[in-house]
Amino acid sequence: MPIPYQGPLFVGSSSAVQRTDSTPRSLNPRRLDIILDLELEYGVHAKRRNYCNWVDCGVFYSSISTWSVPSGASEVGGASGGQVGKYVFEDLSICAIMIAKIIDIFRIICYSNSTMSRKATIQKFICGEWVTIGQFESKGSSHQTAAYFEYDMDYAVTHIAEECPYARAGLRYPVNFELYKENNWPAFLLDLMPSGAGRRVWARRLGIKDDYSYDMELLLNGAGNAPGNIRILEAVIPPNSSPHPGFTQEEVISRKADFIEYAEEKGAIVAGATDVAGDAPKYMLVRDKNQRWHPDGALHEDEILDCWLVKFPRGKQNGDYTVLRNEAPYYEVARAFGLRVGKPLLFIDDCLFIPRFDRAPGTTFIRHGLETIASAMGKAEYGFTVSHRDVLEVIATYATDPQLEMNEYLRREVLNAALRNTDNHARNTAFLKTTDGRVGLSPLYDFAPMFLDPEGVARTTKWGREVEKSVGEPDWIAVCRMLESLYPGIKDLAECLFALAGPVHDLPVQMVNCGVEADVIDGVALRCIRISEGLYKLGKEFSL
Ligand SMILES: Nc1ncnc2c1ncn2[C@@H]1O[C@H](COP(=O)(O)OP(=O)(O)OP(=O)(O)O)[C@@H](O)[C@H]1O
Ligand SMILES: [Mg+2]
Repeated sequence: MPIPYQGPLFVGSSSAVQRTDSTPRSLNPRRLDIILDLELEYGVHAKRRNYCNWVDCGVFYSSISTWSVPSGASEVGGASGGQVGKYVFEDLSICAIMIAKIIDIFRIICYSNSTMSRKATIQKFICGEWVTIGQFESKGSSHQTAAYFEYDMDYAVTHIAEECPYARAGLRYPVNFELYKENNWPAFLLDLMPSGAGRRVWARRLGIKDDYSYDMELLLNGAGNAPGNIRILEAVIPPNSSPHPGFTQEEVISRKADFIEYAEEKGAIVAGATDVAGDAPKYMLVRDKNQRWHPDGALHEDEILDCWLVKFPRGKQNGDYTVLRNEAPYYEVARAFGLRVGKPLLFIDDCLFIPRFDRAPGTTFIRHGLETIASAMGKAEYGFTVSHRDVLEVIATYATDPQLEMNEYLRREVLNAALRNTDNHARNTAFLKTTDGRVGLSPLYDFAPMFLDPEGVARTTKWGREVEKSVGEPDWIAVCRMLESLYPGIKDLAECLFALAGPVHDLPVQMVNCGVEADVIDGVALRCIRISEGLYKLGKEFSL
């Protein structure tokens, strides 16, 4: 298997590492000690040492602590020096799997170049290929430290004259020759980093703590395959040159959240599958043209039939399962309500298969840009509160058709209120930047009966107390007055909202038609009546 890192490498046992002080240190020495301390003894030698009774056996030393040992191999302890594990394997095929795993980790580490590095290369997918568009440098290792960003000279020369924000790495960063200096990392980088469950997977894989002081490490390793069309070059794991045959959908469903670990044990490349945000465990998969499933990032683009996100319950309580079971029907209610919704989701045996809207496989593989509202607002932080007015202002600033997109956002918020989807944070709404240069809201995502979440998810995007005296039931007349200056005329705005009064009233019936469970409908029925009444009142106020 080719190792793409071209620089000096030192491979050997821990004793050899200690002997050679001149070992090249362009990689982090701590990592060298972790990753390169690998030794293999096979057959007679292993038997002589009485590690086991298997005939065709071997001993495999490794100081990597962050990997799972495949079945057919076992740890025998007694490791010395820098080694933390000593393993025996039953036969050579098991040994081959172990080595493949080590090489996979090795490739990840080599690509990260060095933990010392505080620089990252930003690439964008343009007309079928990845192009370097800029450089990022951080003064520290957390996203809360000062940082610089600049566009690549060639890229800036080509795109500086473009008015259209599509060419930008992040919407707030017009293409030019400036060195952008920030007190925190540019917010668009946070869209590339795995968060929640994905971040925890990466922390385990790299043997680092799950806290902000390892953000740079996370960026350089886990931001090579984020949704959208921007990536960090250093984090990229190239597709395998000898591809894995893939898996059946039954294998995915039966292993559920453990599928990725299973795929890794079977020798598939899995590192790109978890480069995704969000609290719920999930991974990205692609299907090949023979309908077999692969972790995303493992296949060449011309072999991909379609691209999926597979999501699992956030926790193990009944409420977690109810939320996930009703997510697909909730999207269908939203579709009937007139919102922008992608292809239907599939729910099979507690696995939610979500078709991706940021990818379009075909003669030319297309990746659309995806940038959260948080990024467009310049929020390089997690868990903050914003106002709907500020969100709408950002939409008005960057959308190709501001009024169309503001109306879409308002309708979503009416439906969020009526169906009690409380998880309306600024990373659950995003701009889709399509390759034709248009910037608009992406199809709806993460839309579910979150009021049933056992941990109690509170809304973080709000109207403000004056407008929402009764929680979850905004005064729509006050909403109109508050947003008046963003619209050409307040009547347009009032009409957009008033048109929803009837459909909101009918939502419980629509929910039955779309297969939402009865308990969930019971939990929102009263709210639908109240919201509908509020919208009728608005109609009266504006004589509609
Ligand atoms: N259909 C889709 N196509 C492309 N990307 C998607 C799609 N749905 C979700 N995403 C991306 O995946 C991320 C995680 O998905 P989602 O928000 O559903 O997960 P979650 O774990 O429920 O999140 P949260 O922590 O907000 O509850 C989103 O933030 C978005 O970037
Ligand atoms: Mg989300």
